[in-house]
Amino acid sequence: MNDQDPTIDTLLHESRSFPPPPEFAAAAHANDPAIYDQADADWEGWWERWASRLQWDQPWQQVLDWQAPYAKWFVGGKLNASVQCLDRHVDAGHGNRVAYYWEGESGDKRTLTYADMLAEVCHTANALKELGVQRGDRVTLYMPMVPELAISVLACTRIGAIFSVVFAGFSATSLQDRIQDQEAKLVICADACSRRGKCLDLKAVVDEAVANCPTIEKVLVWHRGAGVASASPVSDREVAWEDLVPRQKDQCPPASMDAEDPLFILYTSGTTGKPKGIVHTTGGYLTGALATSKLVFDLKPAQDVYWCTADIGWITGHSYIVFGPMANGVTQVMYEGAPDYPAPDRFWSLVDDYKVSVFYTAPTAIRAFMKWGDEHPEAHDLSSLRLLGTVGEPINPEAWMWYRNKIGHDLCPIVDTWWQTETGGIMISPLPGITATVPGSAMHTFPGVEARLLDQEGKEVEGAGGGYLVLTRPWPSMLRGLWRDPERYEETYWSRFPGKYFAGDGAKRDEHGNLWVLGRVDDVMNVSGHRLSTMEIESALVAHEAVAEAAVIGVAHDLKGQAPVGFVILRGGFEATPELAQTLRQHVATEIGGLARPEAVHFTPELPKTRSGKIMRRLLRDVAEGKALGDLTTLADPGVLTGLKQEYESA
Ligand code: WT7
Repeated sequence: MNDQDPTIDTLLHESRSFPPPPEFAAAAHANDPAIYDQADADWEGWWERWASRLQWDQPWQQVLDWQAPYAKWFVGGKLNASVQCLDRHVDAGHGNRVAYYWEGESGDKRTLTYADMLAEVCHTANALKELGVQRGDRVTLYMPMVPELAISVLACTRIGAIFSVVFAGFSATSLQDRIQDQEAKLVICADACSRRGKCLDLKAVVDEAVANCPTIEKVLVWHRGAGVASASPVSDREVAWEDLVPRQKDQCPPASMDAEDPLFILYTSGTTGKPKGIVHTTGGYLTGALATSKLVFDLKPAQDVYWCTADIGWITGHSYIVFGPMANGVTQVMYEGAPDYPAPDRFWSLVDDYKVSVFYTAPTAIRAFMKWGDEHPEAHDLSSLRLLGTVGEPINPEAWMWYRNKIGHDLCPIVDTWWQTETGGIMISPLPGITATVPGSAMHTFPGVEARLLDQEGKEVEGAGGGYLVLTRPWPSMLRGLWRDPERYEETYWSRFPGKYFAGDGAKRDEHGNLWVLGRVDDVMNVSGHRLSTMEIESALVAHEAVAEAAVIGVAHDLKGQAPVGFVILRGGFEATPELAQTLRQHVATEIGGLARPEAVHFTPELPKTRSGKIMRRLLRDVAEGKALGDLTTLADPGVLTGLKQEYESA
């Protein structure tokens, strides 16, 4: 394609598309465009064929029972999730295939085969039983990226317990809220983890959280041993992993679960201060994870080494580190640590060492790599790579081109995958053996999925144009609701455009029919590919004694995509000092987690509000991004904003 080796600028200027390399297409699982029409013609049948590749204990009687907005897929079917990921491969004679090559930040290494994983999962599942965990009980996991996290996830599914992973960067308060909401019986955690060489005491966070969680009966602690030591004292509910798990039996019969039994709860931010507990069920979720990872990542179990750089604490890790790749029986790399530790070439040295062939990361990481310099990828042999993916936020065409050129050496297709915690699996993406990709566009819906763009009134935008992104057919891996909150489920996703799933994103369709997801249209921001609620950060700010009122917005940020910025009205007696701004930033980090720490906190005597008292966040964003102020007629007091703009600009 690039005989002349044109510069990235020229390529961008031409806004050309990149067809799959012929050799890639020839060998790809999906290389016939007819797959789209076939799936559309009978989408229930399409998903049913994917479901039948799983191993069921009992077949379903009905593919789909759709009582909008409630779906049941594969009604009456029974299966176990861990069997799909483990036993199926071991029984087929692939027990010696590597499941995970794990590497820690300081270079320690472990290799676990599928047979090893099965044995570990059975030990852990038996241990959970001994701790009194039963089918349907909730188990909260708070662990860094170690194999024991994937093992714990699968062990819960083995016995039919509902697991809920809380990203180990979340605060004690956030962890406690989630445990309380789901009324968990057990927490599994690690004692500590290391980040850029610094030891973080995770057990101390858990101790603080469970102090207020009467439903928790036990805390199972995995100790990492030498190197990273935790100093927090042992509590009386605590059980040491090493005392309990290794002495368990090698076998644990898998619980036969209903297709619609909950598999996990994963919390994500919404437009209010309270996170939503997204519920996924067993049969449909696994069907979606299996199908999308096979076709979008073109996974070839005997050849590929696949590496997704996400954390299992997010949906990406659930679907594309645990269930999707493992259901496909592929070999993976799992890395616990920062991309720039000990040096900015860490990822590329891992790709080189493990001969990674399929690599999936986030635009925010790609922008950081661009900033760190081309010499880092150039120092390593990246020729094992054959396919690249991105997820989490829109990817700017510059970053896309850099990724293609510097990492993929213009040889690897790029799949820009749009989806959400709620969708469970990829909904919009190229298929790498079919789609001619355009930098910055997620291209087309996955076969069987249907998306539409709607205007304010709910009228369909046909042809080229922009609108609200909705999904118009149920799909197997869709959320089944919010944990014990059906009203909020109906209200959040199904009320804006009745009968259609409203994703909360805006998108446009270009003249070639390609989809471009533009970003959130609600009070949710996307910071480094992580979803944060403005209201949640505002609640954290007003919880501080110095704060009378707060407004938070996401402002454009070069590396993170967006970054939170707070505007704060102080209570009487508190002085607006840089130290207090610092304190408030740290306060948010302590309340929610480091990822929510505002980039800046500005003090203001007033906030721009509508006459009905609603904070006009859009206007604050204009101030923060230095834009012209535009129409202020809906404001109760337009003077507030001009004053704010002057202060902001002189700060
Ligand atoms: C939101 C979902 C899906 C796993 C990671 C985030 C944004 C995600 C893309 C993409 C443009 C994207 C959307 C979406 N998003 N992928 N390829 N292009 N935007 O999961 O925390 O549930 O967030 O992330 O705004 O709604 P999440």
